Amino acid sequence: MSKIRAAITGVHGYVPDYVLTNEELSTIVDTNDEWITSRTGIKTRHILKGEDQGTSVMVVEALKGLLKKTDTNPEDIDLVICATVTGDAIFPDTANIATYKTGMVNAFGFDLNAACSGFLYALTVGAKMIEGGTHKKVIVAGADKMSSIIDYTDRTTCVIFGDGGGAVLLEPTTDPDCGIIDYMHRGDGSGEKHLYLVAGGSRKPATVDSVIAREHFVTQNGRPVFKAAVTGMSDVVKKVMAHNNLDAESLDWLVPHQANFRIIQTVAKMADFPLEKVMSNIERYGNTTAGTLPLCLHDYEPQLKKGDNLILTAFGGGFTWGALYLKWAYDGDKVKRLD
Ligand code: ACO
Repeated sequence: MSKIRAAITGVHGYVPDYVLTNEELSTIVDTNDEWITSRTGIKTRHILKGEDQGTSVMVVEALKGLLKKTDTNPEDIDLVICATVTGDAIFPDTANIATYKTGMVNAFGFDLNAACSGFLYALTVGAKMIEGGTHKKVIVAGADKMSSIIDYTDRTTCVIFGDGGGAVLLEPTTDPDCGIIDYMHRGDGSGEKHLYLVAGGSRKPATVDSVIAREHFVTQNGRPVFKAAVTGMSDVVKKVMAHNNLDAESLDWLVPHQANFRIIQTVAKMADFPLEKVMSNIERYGNTTAGTLPLCLHDYEPQLKKGDNLILTAFGGGFTWGALYLKWAYDGDKVKRLD
């Protein structure tokens, strides 16, 4: 009997309407378009504005679009995994809120936190639930409202991040020409000191002092993060390519976490992979943390063909990182887009 694999049978992305440009950022902190563009490749990012607007708002939009595009009944969904570091609250889970708001009455859901690697890890977990034969329709979402944890007085971080996300539908297949095939994930807790939130967790709960000290915002040492990101991602990409007898010719797309364009360029170079086959939309969205990979798949969907070989890779706070190899399951140009 052929092995059951999980195939991505649909994707949808969502970014909020408000566009924060480099020019507007230059009026908030001491920065400029030239610095941001040359260091990060980012021109604009989208921001979720308004009262009571949490990450679930974007996840719900992504799920609704996904159901519509794939003509799926919400009652047929078994499970939703939502990768995020900016859930609506510490609990309940954003996945749970989103399943309720989209009528997925037979689904259970949970959030998964692995920072920028969250979507990749969640995709692996979702695939295993399908491969086990117990779940037929699993949604994996990745979304973050990074503007809720970014200090807009800190020019070293506020230029990098944006809000947005997306979701994919996973279904079983026995077709050897599609599905999730292999992965390699890694973690190194010693990286905590380079990218973190000081307060707001159980170690240092929120106090008036922690708020005044601005300890609920992202703190980052950019250079060590850059170095670890390019080394980590290129290493696992090369290993997954070697393990599956892939080379720059047979691999159709590299889908890297959109951290910044210099990181993307360097990873492609270190993995000996041509830049024209590397997905990138960081210019428009910035780094949306768990949202970058589904947003990339969404934007490039019309160019994807059944049987295309893709490697997804990510690196994030923790440190966490990994790479995942899949064969795309459908011709993207035949899908009716909602945008
Ligand atoms: N505008 C203008 N000047 C700035 C800005 C800004 N927005 N930010 C920093 N600078 C200044 C610094 O203050 C410094 O000035 P100084 O020399 O007078 O002290 C100078 O620019 C150089 O600062 P560096 O931090 O050394 O700049 P670098 O070239 O390393 O670029 C950056 C900084 C873009 C953050 C880089 O380190 C990087 O890309 N790191 C990876 C970070 C990342 O992608 N994190 C995302 C989360 S993790 C992930 O997704 C992988």
